[in-house]
Parts: sequence; C-alpha cells; structure tokens
Amino acid sequence: MIDKTHPQVYIVQKMTEGKYMRLMGRVAIVTGAASGIGRGIAQRFANEGASVVVTDLEASACARVAEQIGKSGMARPTDVTSSPEVRSLIQDVIDKFGRLDILVNNAGRTYQSTVAEMPEEEWDAVINVNLRGSFLCAKHAAPYLMKSSFGRIINIVTTQGGVPYASAYCASKMGLMALTQSLMYELAPYNVTVNAVCPGTVRTPLSAKAIEMKAQLSGVLPSDVWNQVEQAIPLRRFCTPEDVGNVVAFLASDEAAFVTGALYPVTGGFYGHSIGSAKKTTVTTAPVPEKKSGL
Ligand SMILES: NC(=O)c1ccc[n+]([C@@H]2O[C@H](COP(=O)([O-])OP(=O)(O)OC[C@H]3O[C@@H](n4cnc5c(N)ncnc54)[C@H](O)[C@@H]3O)[C@@H](O)[C@H]2O)c1
Repeated sequence: MIDKTHPQVYIVQKMTEGKYMRLMGRVAIVTGAASGIGRGIAQRFANEGASVVVTDLEASACARVAEQIGKSGMARPTDVTSSPEVRSLIQDVIDKFGRLDILVNNAGRTYQSTVAEMPEEEWDAVINVNLRGSFLCAKHAAPYLMKSSFGRIINIVTTQGGVPYASAYCASKMGLMALTQSLMYELAPYNVTVNAVCPGTVRTPLSAKAIEMKAQLSGVLPSDVWNQVEQAIPLRRFCTPEDVGNVVAFLASDEAAFVTGALYPVTGGFYGHSIGSAKKTTVTTAPVPEKKSGL
C-alpha cells in the first residue's frame, strides 16, 4: 500500500513500486483466487514477479481475475474437492511452466448453525473444501514442491478455534492447522516450508454469509455484528486482502527460508475467540432415537 501521508516513505515506495520482486521466476498456485483474500494474494504474488495460477470453481471468474493480474496470471478452474481435477491442475502447471514452487490453500466455505441443527451435507461440504481440498492440493503438489529448491505451502486458517454456530468451519480450520504441522515435518527434509496464516475479519462474500447467518441465529442485525467485530479489533479496522497478501508474500519469499510450522495472525491484534455467546434455541430437527446396544 502506498503511504501518501509521509512524503519520504511515499517517494521510496514509488521508486521501488513493482521492482522489489522477491518471487521472480517462481510458479505459484492460489486456490479460491477468484474472490476476496485469494485474489489479493494472487495479485501480490504477481506484483512480486511470480507466475500465478488462479484457480477457483468457475472458469469465467478465474479468467476475470487472471486478466486483472496481467501477463503473469493464468486462469485454471478447479474444484479442490475433486482429486482428478486437482491432479490434472498440477499436471497442467508442470506441462506449462516445468515447475511448481508455491501452493496457497485458500479456497474456503462456511455454514453457520448450531451443531444440533447442522445439516449433514453442509458439514460435509465445509470439511470437504477447507480440509480435504487442502489435503488433495498438498498431496498432488508435494512431489513437485519437493523438486523445487524453494518449495512453499501456505494454508489460510482462522483464529476461531471453536465458536458458536461455526463448528464445521472451526473444525475444518483446526484440522488444517494439524495438517500444516504434519506437512511441515514431512517436507522439511526437502527444504519445503509449510506455514499457516490466520486473517482477521476481511469483508468478503464468505464473511458476509457467516455474519448474516450468525446475526439471524443471534436475533440481531448483521450491521450490529459487523460493528461488534470492528470494535473488538485493537487496530479498529477490518483486515484487507492486501494485509494478508503482504504476510503470505513474505512467507513465500527467500526472506522466510527458515520459517516453517508457524502460525501468522494478521488480525489487527484481535485474538478473541468469539463475539457474543450462543442463544438458547428451539431445535426443530427431531432427535434420533437412541439405538439399544447389547453392551
Ligand atoms: N473473510 C474473512 O474474514 C476470513 C477470515 C479468516 C479466514 N478466512 C479464510 O480465507 C479464505 C478465503 O476466504 P474469503 O474470505 O476471501 O472468501 P471468498 O468467498 O471471497 O473466497 C472464497 C473462494 O473460495 C472458492 N471456493 C469455494 N469452494 C471451492 C472449491 N470447491 N474449489 C475451488 N474454489 C472454491 C469460492 O468460489 C471463492 O471464490 C478461506 O479459506 C476463509 O476461510 C477468511
């Protein structure tokens, strides 16, 4: 971000803008890059000189973002929950660039509900995208990252270790943290670093859906929840895709060569687990009758 309030800083930033390329020659895949945080990371990688593969569900959305990024952007639609699609994505990247250096597992999904009322298909869908999708991308990318001298995996997680109404989301992201640690040990002998970045609240379609559903469950207005969240952030502003992109670009760069297995919060100082507590609700789903076991 260019700082126009301090003339000296502004001049230095202007002089080095687009020239401080820490990722020159690197090839990166960013999942879920058609929107929000992923788009910010992809743009930042391109500014740092990387070739960036923009992956997301829809071809048109990927193409739009790749075009915005410019000549270093390549659109490649992929559903991260499909093993054959992920395998073919990685193969296409190797065929085109001959290498893969950086994987950012950013694609995400959420659903807000009490555990008692959580539709099982929504639970599965959240776990599938956030956890299984990251596993599949890491699994298929690992052999090529191990061949790179600069291999990097960066997983996008959350501070929310377990909050009301977000059980599937929290469980998936805590699972992704555990996956980060396992990958860190397994890939360290190949000089591949594996880290997690934890964004604060960024205004994106995903967080808007989460806050709307949470507001409905809590019986308040979405604007009240947004205000509560903002007031709880010590730096008193929402996180931006650029804030996250800055930290992810650092972790992808040579400057972070000795950083692995780390969790980087980009939260403006907010480490609280939840805003407000759960309300007593009436469960509409009929309880499943207990099975009589012979034990
Ligand atoms: N926004 C926040 O406040 C916040 C905070 C902490 C962590 N995060 C995490 O950041 C990541 C990005 O979220 P965002 O807020 O930018 O949301 P977003 O809705 O802007 O972007 C998420 C993207 O993931 C894509 N996606 C969903 N399912 C997919 C699939 N099966 N295959 C490929 N792509 C798929 C969506 O199409 C979308 O473009 C997520 O992992 C999210 O959990 C977000």
